[in-house]
Amino acid sequence: MIIAVDGPTASGKGTISKELAKHYGLPFLDTGLLYRGVGWTVLNQGGDADNPEDALAACMFDALLLDNPALRSEAIGGLASRVSVHPKVRGALHKRQRDFAYQSGGAVLDGRDIGTVIAPDADVKLFVTASTEARAVRRFEEMKRRAEQGSGDPVNFDDILADIVKRDERDQSRSTAPLKPAEDADLLDTTDLTIGDAIQQAIALVDAKISRRGKKGPA
Ligand code: DC
Repeated sequence: MIIAVDGPTASGKGTISKELAKHYGLPFLDTGLLYRGVGWTVLNQGGDADNPEDALAACMFDALLLDNPALRSEAIGGLASRVSVHPKVRGALHKRQRDFAYQSGGAVLDGRDIGTVIAPDADVKLFVTASTEARAVRRFEEMKRRAEQGSGDPVNFDDILADIVKRDERDQSRSTAPLKPAEDADLLDTTDLTIGDAIQQAIALVDAKISRRGKKGPA
């Protein structure tokens, strides 16, 4: 079973996807981390994230980089969003994501274009959203916690809110694989939900989809 989870930053999709993977015993890939790896590498190679050739050259990073907590910063998230507009970068990361999705037994992937481009025939597609304000509050709390633990820089709420607005705009308006729900995606708005309730609702949506498909029989 392939479960595709898409949505904007800080919507809760990452936590929900990890819990779905645990619940259904499936491997999990956070595809945003791949774009963050490219963003981090372009920065450290002294390249320009807006230059398609510099960004493409940064796609050849060592897989060990994905364990680096520095990838989780807001600044690297912004660079990831900038490199992700280049079709060549999306092309370079495509096979790795597709192979992961279509491995035997299935997988859970979270990102922006999983249900639309990477795995358009996924068994289940969720589009997880929340209001901009709610997402900014969550991201601010997460970044504040990281800074207190010594693994991040101090943050300011207005800067985080502005970053989220800018990143949404860029992710939704790029010409290749923009962030948008697949036509057959189930929407899950987590604005007023605790993370526990959001996970329960996501499991209920997946179960309902499996049972609908089961009744229809194989495609
Ligand atoms: O999910 P995230 O915030 O870690 O993603 C960082 C950026 O990477 C996001 O702003 C856009 C890009 N991205 C993408 O274009 N496609 C994906 N499947 C995942 C992330």
